Amino acid sequence: INWKKPGLFAAGVAFGTAGIKILTSDDAKKLYTNCTAAVLRAKSCVMKTATSVQENAGDILAEAKQINEDRAAEAEAEVVDDYCEVAEETEEAAETAANAAGTADVADKKVGISIYKFDDNFMTLYRQELQRYLTEDLGFKAENVVIQDGKGDQAEQTNQINNFITQKYDVLILNLVQASSAPEITDMCKEAGIPVVYINREPDEAEEQRWVDEKINATYVGCDARQSGTYQGEEILETETKGDINGDGKVSYIMIQGDPENVDAQYRTEFSVKALTDGGMEVEELLMQRGDWDQAKGQQITQDALTQFGEQVEVVFCNNDAMALGALQAIQAAGRTINKDIYLVGVDALTDAVQNIVDGNFTGTVFNDHFSQAQEAAAQAVNFLKGEEVEPVN
Ligand code: GAL
Repeated sequence: INWKKPGLFAAGVAFGTAGIKILTSDDAKKLYTNCTAAVLRAKSCVMKTATSVQENAGDILAEAKQINEDRAAEAEAEVVDDYCEVAEETEEAAETAANAAGTADVADKKVGISIYKFDDNFMTLYRQELQRYLTEDLGFKAENVVIQDGKGDQAEQTNQINNFITQKYDVLILNLVQASSAPEITDMCKEAGIPVVYINREPDEAEEQRWVDEKINATYVGCDARQSGTYQGEEILETETKGDINGDGKVSYIMIQGDPENVDAQYRTEFSVKALTDGGMEVEELLMQRGDWDQAKGQQITQDALTQFGEQVEVVFCNNDAMALGALQAIQAAGRTINKDIYLVGVDALTDAVQNIVDGNFTGTVFNDHFSQAQEAAAQAVNFLKGEEVEPVN
């Protein structure tokens, strides 16, 4: 299969800190044999994409002059089918993994989870998978898996964590509002003898080193955001004009950042541009602004930038898909056409984003694998419960 056909789709996955780049079917198979059953759950949403692509293909068939689009649509459907096939192959592997986790041991253990805020598309998928995997695959009791909404407020979240500690939870999985609070939170957990798995927002290296030096039961599970940034830049390099639509010798872009305190935002910003310059392109940053991972902010920032810079804007880099979906609304409202007079890339591979790639309304995204990350976080929590040694970063 040619993964580039339906648009550009690369994957960054949390298998250790090194990810796997998906550009060929072989790469895809390598990725999915490493994935677990949850990938199968993606199947239904991806299948929806396939169905709509096929329906479109049916309409197009009626008009012979559109035969080329028809071929493209069929190719897309094939890619999606292939994706599903590979996903199915992983089902068995996942069952084995879940059995190995030893369901009986954890039935009475309590897991406290706090998410930085519930109102975040990607973290919603992540938390749903955490809940599903812990209960359905690992055998935790539903009432023993409690997930709290940090509401974007560190003080509120610290309170929630204190409550988990008072109620003697056995292990915590935390997506901090501010990664810089990790030392304080880690000490609270350490004092109570409760192991902690941090997810998504990485504490700094000094803190991670401290866990090793002081033998603290804490770990971080996440993707390497450098990689997703690099893939975004490469996706632009793989377009016909390498991002230089107007041929003036430089790629003029706007950068919509997530929360700039978050390493994900910093690395994606830095490495997306670095991939362009490493690829020999000159770049011009027209604007960089924080959009806090938020769709409405992505829309507003793009709308303002298009008013200010007009056709100068050749590439809209968004640190995530939610902001890119907002950017797309502004781009369409301004009468611009994706992949013709402007490029747009995001990260996460939300279903809506993937659909937009298929429809030609997104240039690309990068798969931020919430399945693997959620499952890895749950697995490390179980390792702590079993008293096994856990690496500081996974
Ligand atoms: C990123 C993700 C964003 C947002 C953020 C929250 O990894 O791409 O969409 O969810 O985490 O910290």
